[in-house]
Amino acid sequence: MKTANSSAKLAANLTFLACLLLVCGVAYGGSAGLQEGTNITNGLDICREPKHESLNRGAAVPDFNYASNGDDWPGLCQTGQQQSPIDLPEKQNSTPKAIPSNQLIKFGPVNATGNAVLRREIDEVEILSANWANDFSIPVCGGDNIGCLDGSSDSASVQYMNASIVNMHFHANSEHTRAGTYYGAEAHLVTAITLNGKQRLVVFGTWMDIEGNKTNAFFEVVRPYIDQSNGAACNAVPDNVTFNVTSFLPSNKTYYAYRGSLTTPPCTEGVTWIVFNNPVQMSVPQLKTLYKSNSYTSQPCSNTTQTTNQLCNILGARTNNRVLQPLNARTIELGTPATSGAAAT
Ligand SMILES: *[C@@H]1O[C@H](CO)[C@@H](O)[C@H](O)[C@H]1NC(C)=O
Ligand SMILES: *[C@@H]1O[C@H](CO)[C@@H](O)[C@H](O)[C@H]1NC(C)=O
Ligand SMILES: *[C@@H]1O[C@H](CO)[C@@H](O)[C@H](O)[C@H]1NC(C)=O
Ligand SMILES: *[C@@H]1O[C@H](CO)[C@@H](O)[C@H](O)[C@H]1NC(C)=O
Ligand SMILES: *[C@@H]1O[C@H](CO)[C@@H](O)[C@H](O)[C@H]1NC(C)=O
Ligand SMILES: *[C@@H]1O[C@H](CO)[C@@H](O)[C@H](O)[C@H]1NC(C)=O
Ligand SMILES: *[C@@H]1O[C@H](CO)[C@@H](O)[C@H](O)[C@H]1NC(C)=O
Ligand SMILES: *[C@@H]1O[C@H](CO)[C@@H](O)[C@H](O)[C@H]1NC(C)=O
Ligand SMILES: [Zn+2]
Repeated sequence: MKTANSSAKLAANLTFLACLLLVCGVAYGGSAGLQEGTNITNGLDICREPKHESLNRGAAVPDFNYASNGDDWPGLCQTGQQQSPIDLPEKQNSTPKAIPSNQLIKFGPVNATGNAVLRREIDEVEILSANWANDFSIPVCGGDNIGCLDGSSDSASVQYMNASIVNMHFHANSEHTRAGTYYGAEAHLVTAITLNGKQRLVVFGTWMDIEGNKTNAFFEVVRPYIDQSNGAACNAVPDNVTFNVTSFLPSNKTYYAYRGSLTTPPCTEGVTWIVFNNPVQMSVPQLKTLYKSNSYTSQPCSNTTQTTNQLCNILGARTNNRVLQPLNARTIELGTPATSGAAAT
């Protein structure tokens, strides 16, 4: 289990967190970050931290919006060959490569307790917590091949490393598609492992399906803090509220795995993506809450280019999902862990 409840560690992590979505290639080095020794004792203090705002809006951080669903983002977002999101499984890859049983991710419980805040990044709702706890264990092959992707089969070199949680956030519509189809939303649980002194990201994507209009119990815990925030950039969550992420993840943890990127500028590559095959359910009113949170800062949207990836959502607010990216020379893999007792969805 990993926690980050000492203030020093939190401060260090916050520097990382705050730049994460805009991440961290550029913002990390360039930004001043929280001062060493800053005491953050509760979520309210996180919200009050003025540098928090400047870290995200400052010059070192690329500014971006979803006016073109990401098609206009510069740099690596244009030139990268291993970008996210993608369609899963890509047609040319319709039988993904099976991950050997000794290289599967091990999923333990994960939750956030106390000192949590709900924060809006650029059009994005995000749960941050000083007290993430989790037992996710990630296979690493050959010393630095996170997830043992790219055809590694040297079982002798597999070691497992624990992931620490960075944040959890939501996109609507979904970013990854399933055989060409968008889901209503997609949750991203962002984790990091430290290899050779460098933070490497492993992001867990969960599709959220509105077809059955079924209330998602986890999102019902999140929802009041979105509704109450009335467009504020940050809303502290009372310390007695637990975000039981275990209860949110699909109980069947069959997953796609591939090497990709951040789905926001600067579109840094080297991100290990794990996307669960089976969606969880969400209700239409819940999706509307998510849309509403996006609409506070969204650019105006237009319905002139109606595709499956709508530029306007059903409330007339802008979506916050990046357009699909080409697979290029990448392999999509399929992990089939033993189903263990997590959420019923
Ligand atoms: C990972 O976490 C588990 C469970 O908390 C613990 O038993 C194990 O020692 C940890 N492994 C490493 C490499 O820290
Ligand atoms: C943080 O708290 C510790 C112990 O409570 C105290 O010694 C230290 O001076 C505080 N630092 C700041 C910057 O307030
Ligand atoms: C959070 O998860 C950890 C295991 O990672 C567990 O020990 C702890 O009891 C959980 N806390 C809550 C409030 O669910
Ligand atoms: C979804 O269910 C809610 C009740 O939970 C209801 O108010 C709403 O009309 C339903 N929407 C659709 C599109 O079925
Ligand atoms: C947290 O505490 C507040 C105030 O005591 C209470 O109203 C609320 O129901 C509690 N929430 C949970 C999830 O226990
Ligand atoms: C969290 O959710 C999991 C899966 O639904 C459940 O087994 C566990 O008891 C929950 N933890 C708490 C503290 O409620
Ligand atoms: C888990 O999901 C996969 C992908 O949808 C499916 O093929 C498999 O049968 C499921 N496993 C169980 C035990 O339901
Ligand atoms: C876009 O279309 C949706 C659904 O048809 C509608 O509710 C919304 O008002 C439209 N938005 C604009 C800006 O025209
Ligand atoms: Zn994301």
